[in-house]
Amino acid sequence: MTAEELRSLYFDFFIGKGHTVIQGASLIPQEDSTILYTPAGMQPLVPYLLGEKHPAGTRLVNVQKCIRTGDIDEVGDSSHLTFFEMLGNWSLGDYFKRESITWSYEFLTSSKWLGFDPEQLHVTVFSGDDQVPPDMEAAEIWEQVGVSRDRIYFLGRDDNWWGPTGNTGPCGPDTEMFIDTGKPSCGPECRPGCGCGKFFEIWNDVFMEYRRTADGQYVPLEQKNVDTGMGVARTVAMMNGCMSIYDIPQFQPLFGFLKKLSGVGSEPDVQTLRSLRIVSDHIRTATHILGDDQGIPPSNLDRGYVLRRLIRLAVRHGRKLGIDDPFTSRMAEIVIDSESSVHKELARN
Ligand code: ALA
Repeated sequence: MTAEELRSLYFDFFIGKGHTVIQGASLIPQEDSTILYTPAGMQPLVPYLLGEKHPAGTRLVNVQKCIRTGDIDEVGDSSHLTFFEMLGNWSLGDYFKRESITWSYEFLTSSKWLGFDPEQLHVTVFSGDDQVPPDMEAAEIWEQVGVSRDRIYFLGRDDNWWGPTGNTGPCGPDTEMFIDTGKPSCGPECRPGCGCGKFFEIWNDVFMEYRRTADGQYVPLEQKNVDTGMGVARTVAMMNGCMSIYDIPQFQPLFGFLKKLSGVGSEPDVQTLRSLRIVSDHIRTATHILGDDQGIPPSNLDRGYVLRRLIRLAVRHGRKLGIDDPFTSRMAEIVIDSESSVHKELARN
């Protein structure tokens, strides 16, 4: 399965459930200067999650370009990227937990859609704390749709709470969906969220029913919303039986170019593989920042500094691979060639 095939299946599925397709937003947030780059599909929709009427209605679906650099040190493992695309379906005060979970299960397991073996699916739900109770309702719905108790895990705020993207704003408990890759477990405590790579997170349904205030209180929202995020590269990797997002077709032209230029062989050691992945990820992200319609240049400050650091790290890892010649713009051309059919702005800019 390709990323384009996944996108079109996702849109068809949610159009069938009454959703309207909307455009993704720029990577550079236009309204919110406290956020450097758009980190999730919900961020451009914050006003609507807080109650403003969206012109396209109360059920929306889209794909959003996202950048997250909080996990930059993890880039090069099997699942982290700084730039990624996220599919999302939204309920703005319309459906809530039951429909959201039922549809997620249907899309993931029905042979008409992704057709994952239901036994491969493991889910996590919020275990509660002194401010918000455990999400028993989500766990019960998962059980009713067909996920057995032993594949439902209760985790805390670090794992199963989403938002706000800044200090204040909409947020809520979430339920995350993982695919068991079939790798042996790393120990008796191995479970979704443990990071060893056995369980691969692909989708997150957030039940946005709270607003965090400036003094750290969680106030119930008048309108209950659903915000979901399915990682395109992660899901494509699982659909293709890959153990890493870097094994999906999209990355292969970048690795091919780097290997040719550096002379790295077909079986690189762990450090070399990590450098190949870091260079590919960072140049791809830099290309998307520069190629956005609101694109910005590298600089010493804020957004421009993030971009400059990404390019600098890519060059440094390029040197580790033994590449001394300038190569970044040639790699950017590969990104533009392979991705501008979907991201037309790359070619335009
Ligand atoms: N906003 C949620 C996330 O990014 C869906 O995971």
